[in-house]
Amino acid sequence: MTERMLGALASSPIGFGAMVVSPGMYGDIDEERGQAALHAAIDAGARLIDTADGYGADGHNERAVGRAVRERRDEVVLATKFGFRIPDGAEPHRFPVNYAFGELAVNCAPEYVRGYAEQSLRNLGTDVIDLYYPHFPDPQVPFEETVGAVAELIGDGLVRHLGLSNVTAAQLRAAHAVHPVAAVQVQWSMWQPIDAALLAAARELGVGVVAWSPLGGGFLTGTVRQVADGDFRQQISRFSAENLAANNDRYAPVRAIAAELGVTPGQLALAWLLRQYEHVVPIPGSRTPAHIAENQAAADLVLDDAVLERIDKALAEFAPAGVGALLPH
Ligand SMILES: NC(=O)c1ccc[n+]([C@@H]2O[C@H](COP(=O)([O-])OP(=O)(O)OC[C@H]3O[C@@H](n4cnc5c(N)ncnc54)[C@H](OP(=O)(O)O)[C@@H]3O)[C@@H](O)[C@H]2O)c1
Repeated sequence: MTERMLGALASSPIGFGAMVVSPGMYGDIDEERGQAALHAAIDAGARLIDTADGYGADGHNERAVGRAVRERRDEVVLATKFGFRIPDGAEPHRFPVNYAFGELAVNCAPEYVRGYAEQSLRNLGTDVIDLYYPHFPDPQVPFEETVGAVAELIGDGLVRHLGLSNVTAAQLRAAHAVHPVAAVQVQWSMWQPIDAALLAAARELGVGVVAWSPLGGGFLTGTVRQVADGDFRQQISRFSAENLAANNDRYAPVRAIAAELGVTPGQLALAWLLRQYEHVVPIPGSRTPAHIAENQAAADLVLDDAVLERIDKALAEFAPAGVGALLPH
C-alpha cells in the first residue's frame, strides 16, 4: 500500500480512529471487541492509530491501544493528544463548542505537558509518541507556549513529531514558527468542509491534514437510520430523528453515485477526501472488522476528474439539516 506523508512522518493513506473502542461515545463496548477492532485495523493496513488521553475514563483508550500494539509496535504510527486530563489542583479552562458537548475544558499550560506525555507513554506502553497534539488550543494559554513544551519533548526524544488539533490557520502559522508541524487534525468530510484558510496554510507550509470524523460519525456510510440511547450522536442536531431522515433523503444523490461505481457510500466519502489534498489522511473509527476492511480498501479507489466533478456538484446541493461543526468556522 502506498504511503502518505504528514510532514516528515509516513502514514498509510487511511488510518484508524481509536476513540470508538472506549465505552461512552458510541454506546458500550467490551474489551474483547475493542481489541479485535484494533487488530483488524492494523491487519487491514491502517498504520496511523489515533487516540487521546481524554478518550474513555482514566486513559482507557490509550491503554487499549497500548495493549493491542504491545507485540506490533513497529507496524504502527502512534498518535495521541493531551489537554483534557486535567491534574488535581489545576484549573479547567472552559470554552464553548457547537457540537454534542456544549462546552469543553482543557489545561495546556506548559508546566503540565511533560507530565501528560509521561502518562501517555505509560498508558501506551511505549518509549516514544510518534505524533503528539494539544487536543484543543487552550484559550487561557498562549499557543506558542503549549507548542514550545511539545518541542522540548521532541528535543528530549519522548515525541517524534508535532501535531495540532482543532486549530485555525493563524494558530498553525504561529505554531509552525516555533517548531515544524507535521499535521493538523481537523473535522473534515463530505458534510463538514475544512476551513479554506487552514487548508491553504497547510499546503503552503507542507503540513499534513488528519481528517477526523471522515465518515461524518457514520452518517456518510448511508447506514445510520436512528441513533440508540447512550450514543453521543443523540446530542448532535444533525442526528435528531427529524434531521437524520431529511439528511438521508438529501444525501441520496451521493449514495447513487457510489452505487453506480459499485462501491459503498462510506468508501466514496473516504476516496473523495483522499482526492482533496495529497497529504490528507482520514482516520475513520469502527468497531466492526468488516467495516474496517471496507474502509481501508477505499485507499485503492481512484476517482477520475469527471466523477469528482459529479460528486462535488451533488455535494454543493446537499445542505444538511442541523449543526455539524464542532467549532464555528
Ligand atoms: N481531534 C478531535 O477533536 C477529534 C474529535 C472526534 C474524533 N476524532 C478522531 O477521529 C476518529 C473518527 O471520528 P468519529 O468516530 O467521530 O467518526 P467517523 O469515523 O466518521 O464515524 C464512526 C462511525 O462510523 C461507523 N462506521 C465506520 N465505518 C463504517 C462502515 N464501513 N459502514 C458502516 N458504518 C461505519 C462506525 O460504526 P461501526 O463501529 O459499527 O463500524 C461509527 O459509528 C475518532 O476515532 C478519533 O480518533 C478526533
